[in-house]
Parts: sequence; structure tokens; C-alpha cells
Amino acid sequence: MSTLATPPAAAAKTAAAPVGAREAMERLNAEAGKHNIWLRTQANAPAQRPWFRDTGIEASGALAAGRVGANQIKTAPHRWRWSEIGPYLDRIAEIARHADVSPIEFAERQQFLLTNPGLGGRLQVTNTIRCAVSIYNPGDVAPVHRHTPNASRTILSENGGYTVVEGERCEAGRGDLILTPHGTWHDHGNDGATPVVWIDVLDFPLMEFLDCVWIDDEFPGERAGNSRAQAPKHVNGHSRRLYGGGGMLPGFVVPQHGIAGMATPLIHYRGADIRAALAGLAAEAGDPYEGITLRFVNPVNGDPLFPTLGYAAQLLRPGEETQLKRETASTMYVAIEGSGTTEIAGRRFDWERNDIFVVPNFLWRRHLNTGKSDAVLYSVSDAPLMEKVGQYRAQGRTSDGAVAELAA
Ligand SMILES: [Fe+2]
Repeated sequence: MSTLATPPAAAAKTAAAPVGAREAMERLNAEAGKHNIWLRTQANAPAQRPWFRDTGIEASGALAAGRVGANQIKTAPHRWRWSEIGPYLDRIAEIARHADVSPIEFAERQQFLLTNPGLGGRLQVTNTIRCAVSIYNPGDVAPVHRHTPNASRTILSENGGYTVVEGERCEAGRGDLILTPHGTWHDHGNDGATPVVWIDVLDFPLMEFLDCVWIDDEFPGERAGNSRAQAPKHVNGHSRRLYGGGGMLPGFVVPQHGIAGMATPLIHYRGADIRAALAGLAAEAGDPYEGITLRFVNPVNGDPLFPTLGYAAQLLRPGEETQLKRETASTMYVAIEGSGTTEIAGRRFDWERNDIFVVPNFLWRRHLNTGKSDAVLYSVSDAPLMEKVGQYRAQGRTSDGAVAELAA
């Protein structure tokens, strides 16, 4: 039986004894919890203050307290120094070389994953992004598979490794960006003479949150010999020849990739091309908050590379200091070239070649090239996702300290 109306006697009793109501409610909670309900005993307490009005550099919000804040997580600004984490790859590779069973067999990859100290040990660097660093010894092969998370590789080693994506062999070189959009069949390996290293970036945490992770390793197509890899159908550079023309698209193919056939058809950006494009723009004024930037986009429709993640590269010229900016999106950076500092909420995070760092949402940040040569950062941001759900906002500080709405 349900009682939608409060009997007059009960109402009078409640009104007469307001003191101790919270304690009484909590006692009731102790009893009611077994039914998977919670009697509200505190108001909503958002982690963020109204950040867009709060102009202090350090403003970062705080975790809500009590039951409302239970299990709440908050990405922390953090930098992983290559000098500290890189050596673990050598140690993984050394174990693999002498192992009875290679880690790539029992763990599928030889890699370490980055764990943001604000996220309670979860395998993620932001709310939406997982980041791993992988090493492949000569001869290593990761079998063909596909999955719902969108993924990419940012290549750190000079050469030697490859990824085959939907039959296209992508030979990896330093600074390359190789995409495996959701639902595309891909395998990796190293047929060179030296170990290869790359950074894997995925929207895995978001897919986990949505309970949408599946991984399929029953490749239906032709395999390379009797291996677990797909037979390459296209040589290195295939999609770049079709779709890398910058404003020129082939008229004789229909791009169909990944889930729903909507994924970007250009899957391999070469580091050398990215660097040359940045160099070609170096004399431009650039953006006061970002320097010289390149956004990687789906060449067919101009969309971000993934529905969830946007990729970019930026050049900071010697001595260049960007102005403060903050967004509702979170961003992960890799220092590809040069050295500098990124100030995040008033804290300095120095970076140099191969360092990885994270700028969480809401925090003011600016980049400084403190070296004597160019600095190049690659970035991955969940801004496309935030835009899709109508939550993307950005602010900047002008040179006189005023706050400007960059996207509202
Ligand atoms: Fe994969």
C-alpha cells in the first residue's frame, strides 16, 4: 500500500521534532540501504563552483562531501616524465626476450598504462581517455581484432613497427599518428631489427562508463599466411594518397570504415608531414592561446577524427608564451619535440621530448616554450564529445587580464 498523502498526525509530529531529523533519517538509511535506496540527507554539492565566474588561477573545484560525493572522481593535472617511465619499457622488453611465454601472449600487449593520481588507480588519464605506452620487439605480432573504443597510436621510435588497418599497412615512423577508429580491423607488429615504441590513446573509459566495450577477434577476412594477422590489401600510404590531398577527394571511392561506416577514411598521418605543415605556418601569427595549431579532421566532412576525441598538433616558437585558457574539456599532451613548461592552475609542469601530461577540465593553463628551438606538442581532447552533449565552453584571459568567452 502506498501513502501519497501525509496523515495530519504524522505531519504534526514531524513539525514538532525537527531537531535530530537528519540523524533519524540516517538511522533509517542504515535499514533501507539493503533495498538499494538512499534517503536524502544532504543537498546536492557540485564539485565545480560556477567556474566561469570564478576567475582565480587556482580555481579547480573540489570533491563533494558525504554520500553525494561518494565514488566521485576528479582528474588531476599530472606529468609523466619520459626519463622516469621510459626505462620500464626496456625492462618489459628484456623480460619478454627471455620469457618462456611472452607478455604479448598472456597480456596481449607489452606496455604500461598511465594512471592519473586523481582517478583512484583507474586505467585512465582523464575521465574519457586511456593512455598506454607499448613496446614491440622484432618479430612481435598483436593479432587482428576490432573493438568499440576508438584508438590511435602516436609513434615515438624512429621506424620499424607497423599497424594494418582495414587491410592498409601503415609503416610507423617518429611522430606518425595512426588511427584505428571504432570497429576497424587492425593488427600491429614489428618486422624491423630494433624495438619500436608508441603511445596508445583510446576513449576506453568513456566506453566502459557506457558499458559499451566489446572486442572481437574473429576476423572474417583473409589472413597473412597461417598467421593471426590480416592479409594486407593496400600498401603503405594508401589512404593518404586517396584522402591526404587537402581539399581534394577522389571521386571513384565511397569512404566506408568502422561502425556505421562513418569513421574517418584517412588513417595515417606521417610525422614528417605534420612537422612540415607546422613549419610552413610558423611565420603566421597563430592563436594567442595555442600558438600555431593544426587540427586533424575527417577529410570527407571536416569532423574531428573520432566522435569523442579531437586530435591536434601545435608549434610553440622559441620564447613563445601563450595566454591563459580553460575549457570544459580535458586534454592529454605528448611533447614530440623541444622543451617547455605548461602552467596548470598556477603549477608549473616542465616537459621535454616524449613527456606526457594532462590538463584537466576547468583549469587555467598556458604553454611556454622555454627552449632555444621549436617545441611541438600533440594533443588529444574530449572537446568533440563535450560539444555533442552541449557542454563545451572555453574562456581565455586577454593580455590585460580580462576574461574573454572563447566558446560559450
Ligand atoms: Fe586494438
